[in-house]
Amino acid sequence: MACGEIVRDIAFQRCISPDCGRQYDLAQIQLQCEDCGQLLDVAYDWDRLEVPRSLSVFDGHNGSLQDPRIRSGVWRFHSLLPFAPLDHVVTIGEGHTLLQQASSVAGYVGLEAGELYLQYEGMNPSGSFKDNGMAAAFTHAARMGAKRAACASTGNTSASLAAFCSVTRQMKAIIFIGSGKISFGKLSQALDYGALTVQIKGDFDDAMRRVREVAGKLGIYLVNSVNPFRLEGQKTVMFRVLQSLNWEVPDWIVVPGGNLGNSSAFGKAFAELFALGLIQRIPRLAVINAQGANTLYQLYEQQGLRWNRGAPQPGEVDGYYNQLEATGQRATTIASAIEINQPVNFYKCLRALETCDGVVREVSDQEILDAKAQVGAGGLGCEPASAASVAGAKKLRGEGVIGAGDRVVCVLTGHLLKDPDATVAYHTDNKEMFERVLASRGVEHTNFANRAVVVPNDLDQIVGAIEKHA
Ligand code: F0G
Repeated sequence: MACGEIVRDIAFQRCISPDCGRQYDLAQIQLQCEDCGQLLDVAYDWDRLEVPRSLSVFDGHNGSLQDPRIRSGVWRFHSLLPFAPLDHVVTIGEGHTLLQQASSVAGYVGLEAGELYLQYEGMNPSGSFKDNGMAAAFTHAARMGAKRAACASTGNTSASLAAFCSVTRQMKAIIFIGSGKISFGKLSQALDYGALTVQIKGDFDDAMRRVREVAGKLGIYLVNSVNPFRLEGQKTVMFRVLQSLNWEVPDWIVVPGGNLGNSSAFGKAFAELFALGLIQRIPRLAVINAQGANTLYQLYEQQGLRWNRGAPQPGEVDGYYNQLEATGQRATTIASAIEINQPVNFYKCLRALETCDGVVREVSDQEILDAKAQVGAGGLGCEPASAASVAGAKKLRGEGVIGAGDRVVCVLTGHLLKDPDATVAYHTDNKEMFERVLASRGVEHTNFANRAVVVPNDLDQIVGAIEKHA
């Protein structure tokens, strides 16, 4: 098909470069444009679709538990990601999450009580936001007749893929992980769910490169967020945020940035809702990198790289990646989920930052762990990467970029139990564990540690210790 030729379907894939815009059928499995190499979007001919006239239609679903619009917090919004018929979608019960008003954490961030909300994605079946995207990618994979699906992962994508495969029995999961780079909570999921787990010597960036090669060579369906269907599912995180706020748009969405799938999906969600007239304004987006994995921060904030309406400075990202390779710089952070130097969705994220008048910040491992302890003390807790959002919100508040009265939503991307080592190392007074897990990464203080009280096995002393501490 020639460049720019129209695929006359209500849903199709399209190159994100406005200069190219080449369209592809939904049934074509490819992860970048054949003409210009850019990423692809799932796009819709909204004029030919039944688009809700108001977002409140999503409040009215009721019916059988078999209806995917009831079973799934993703497919509840089917008409906003209508690339597959409703009776063909796959769900394992993802997306039943809650937005929590977190006033004690608001104080830590420097916001007025009541203005900080935590979108807790740990409630997903595999314990992270990935299930939103996986429901969509898996649906596409199943429609394509895929028998094997693969991903590279820092742990959550692999847990999610493995869960979808084991629950539905429709595909075999093949996951690529860097050796020693994945927390035990996540590794245990992949192993328990029966995924073929390929541990390669290297980190996530190495694993990502390899899985793309292998998927191409063996014709295996790839479910990393470079797959545009993944991002369709992840749009629904924002739909649920809006729904929880009674469809009022907050001032800020703050999200950790790793492979940059979430931030890209959120930008697309808001761009589409705005274009459809379903929201009247777009919130600002803050993407938070870990300091040891800060490509987006470096390129966006330090070097000023912009999407520039689809004409970013050519070659800058490749040049930066080449320089990282040449100098042997690897990503390193306690927030292993976002220990990524070469995010596959970089350009889509730049576009999202333009859509949402966005900012990017980096936070240290110390800031991440202190924020994580505050989140835990104020609610359901989260894994380290998720707390980058709260640490980033605090930083932006300190700078005055976020105002004291702004309404801020931080996305807590993963469950506390994903990485118990980081949590226990923070709270323990066991020096060996502190040194091995935290001090080795430059974390010096455990400002909000809740130490276990050590008592002899003696009733009087146990009673005494409790009376003293509580
Ligand atoms: N938070 C958690 C808990 C994650 O697992 C990830 C990504 C991110 C944040 C970053 O999200 O990639 O959309 O910017 N984890 C991937 C994985 C890379 O393999 O599980 P992103």
